[in-house]
Amino acid sequence: MSTPVRASDTPFAVQVVQGKDYWWCACGRSKAQPFCDGSHRTAGDIRPVKFRAEVSATVSFCGCKATGNPPLCDGSHTRPT
Ligand code: FES
Ligand code: FES
Repeated sequence: MSTPVRASDTPFAVQVVQGKDYWWCACGRSKAQPFCDGSHRTAGDIRPVKFRAEVSATVSFCGCKATGNPPLCDGSHTRPT
């Protein structure tokens, strides 16, 4: 089991489009945060998490990769590491 990298200390606010699928980077190694760019393939067994936008809205995707509700920020980034 590999460990995610903390990509950001705060969430990423992204405007999503209704009906579109997004792949959230769970490993923290993507250069296209908060989304997967395939970098996890060299980083062990972590895989991206699919997010389907049910409505067009601004969504806070987790950047610290420690959320308990992936791929969304649940405030866990405020906990000391
Ligand atoms: Fe990860 Fe908020 S940025 S829980
Ligand atoms: Fe992080 Fe794909 S690059 S999950």
